[in-house]
Formats: sequence, C-alpha cells, structure tokens
Amino acid sequence: MSIPHPTIAAERLPALLAAMPKAELHIHIEGSLEPEMTFALAARNGIALPWPSVDALRGAYAFTDLQSFLDLYYQGAGVLQKEEDFYDLALAYLARAARDNVVRAEIFFDPQTHTARGIAMETVVHGLSRACRDAREKHGISAQLILSFLRHLSEREAFETLEQALPVREHFIGVGLDSSELGHPPEKFERVFARCRALGLHVVAHAGEEGPPAYIWQALDLLKAERIDHGVQAVHDHALMQRLAHERIPLTVCPLSNQKLQVFPDLRRHNLKALLDAGLVATANSDDPAYFGGYMNDNLTQVFAATGMNSHHAWQLAAHGFEASFADASDTSRWRDQLGEVFERFA
Ligand code: ADE
Ligand code: ZN
Repeated sequence: MSIPHPTIAAERLPALLAAMPKAELHIHIEGSLEPEMTFALAARNGIALPWPSVDALRGAYAFTDLQSFLDLYYQGAGVLQKEEDFYDLALAYLARAARDNVVRAEIFFDPQTHTARGIAMETVVHGLSRACRDAREKHGISAQLILSFLRHLSEREAFETLEQALPVREHFIGVGLDSSELGHPPEKFERVFARCRALGLHVVAHAGEEGPPAYIWQALDLLKAERIDHGVQAVHDHALMQRLAHERIPLTVCPLSNQKLQVFPDLRRHNLKALLDAGLVATANSDDPAYFGGYMNDNLTQVFAATGMNSHHAWQLAAHGFEASFADASDTSRWRDQLGEVFERFA
C-alpha cells in the first residue's frame, strides 16, 4: 500500500502515533486483566488470591520466557467466572483501546482456560460479544472475536471446543492458535483448522514467537493461516521472508511483549523496523497489555523511540493494520481515509 503521504517531523512522531486511527489485531482479552480488576473480580466472586495486594501481583510480572508468563496468565484468568466478568473485562479493554484511537479490534479469547474450570462456553462468549456490541455504541470502536485453541492441549480437545462453540458461531469470526509454542508445532492442529476453514472461519496462528521459522511454514502450508501472530523469527529464513512479502501475509508483531518475554530483551534490538523495510506487512499490537506494561500507543511510542523509526513506518503500520483486518472493506477504506486526514493535519 504505497499511497502518498506527507513526511512528519520526528518531534511530532509521538503525537502522530497517538492520533492516527489504528487496528489492533493481536490482543488476548485475558491478557488485558489489570491487577486491580483481578482483585475486584476475586472479591465479587468470593475467590481467595495467593497475592496479598495489587502491588504484590504486579511485582510478580517478571518473566524469563513465554511459559513463565503463561503460568501467571492462566492463574489470573481464574477470577473470571460470570458472564458479567467477561463483559466488564472486554468493555474495559475496548474503552482503553478507543482512547488510543484504536478504531478496530480483533480480540482473541481462550475458551479452554474457562471451560476447563466448569464455565460454560456461552457464559464466556455472550459476555465478550455483548461488550463488543456495546463498545461500538459507547466508544465508536469496531470489535470482533477470534476463538483461540490452546496448543499445549490435544487436537481432540480443540475439536471438542469447536463443537461446544458451534451454538455461538455467529459471535466469532475466526480461530487462532496460542499458548506454549515450543514442542507444539502447527502440524498438530492441521485437521481441526481444515474443519474451521470449511465452516467459513478466518484462521490465524501464533508462530515464530519463540519457535523456529519451520513453525511459520507449517502455519502457512498446513493450517493456511491468513495472518501470522508474532512471526518475528522469520528473519532467520530468507526464503520465508520473500514468501511473506510476496504473498503479503501479515505479521501481528507485539514489541513490548517480545521485550518482556525476552525474545528481544533490549527493545533497541527489536526487528519490527527490519521487517517493514524488507517489505513485509507487519503490524503493531499489544498482545497482553496488562502484563507487558503497555497498550497500543505505548507499544508504538516505545518501539519507535528505541529503533529510530520514522513517519513512513508509522503510515505503514497503520495502513497494514487495516489491510490485514477482517473488517468490511467499506470500514477499512473509511479508516484509511481518516489516516490520510491525520497525516495531512500533522504535515
Ligand atoms: N497467550 C497469551 N499471550 C500469548 C503469547 N504471547 N504467546 C502465546 N500464547 C499467548
Ligand atoms: Zn499472542
């Protein structure tokens, strides 16, 4: 998408990044659970927490890798019990995202984390879906849901989860694949993804976050993933980089997540700029903002400051977000027009 756009001076970049309309395509709703809400929901549901205070819980957010984060993330999700809890969680995220001028959010949820605790699929999906609907009214943000299978569980369990979700099929637009990547390659889920595609669902998959480029190849060739979540390990495979660029397969990159989970412990070494400069359809996203220290605009301002990206990169990231989104073409073209207007205003 090389639509002409003005160059904006470096000192105006933070304001430009904040003001431009954006799509967030990689956000786990359970990862937007702020410690304050963890404690509020625990009190509401009569659950005892192992942390003495909000600060103690936040203090536990020191991760060495993906698994060390996931252990805490699944534990935190245990306070979500009632439809109202899922509603409050999603509405809080969407209000926060709208303040960052996110106009479109495609939200992952992990039903197996909840159904394994005896929570009904309908409880989860109805709460989240109602929040998406109300957020459009209250905050002017467009939001839809993507059901994500947990890859550390079996394909049979993914099939069972899909069966449970069929009665609420109208409430989600696609499926994804997340959780512990290493040792759980995409090939493990080839048949269930084929079934999801046959049902007309969009398909995306986490690949190449910690795992090797081979996992990205599998996500493309076996799962037919339309987008790759993370995908930052693609830089180690020249042929893969060429394919991703040539086929315009989007990567939903999450800078602060990669920093916190030690994929790039130093944000200055993050490869988002390199991915864009290599012609890839990379986007910027927050992943699990409550755990990784920042929502959309924090991700943008911090990675731009750390890696010296410019206003052309800002344009690319925003335009790629709309190109990669599963929203209606009429919406994406309107948002792209709004992006152009913001750049003109800053010029
Ligand atoms: N679930 C929530 N966040 C995740 C991440 N960054 N990678 C894999 N699974 C996740
Ligand atoms: Zn993720």
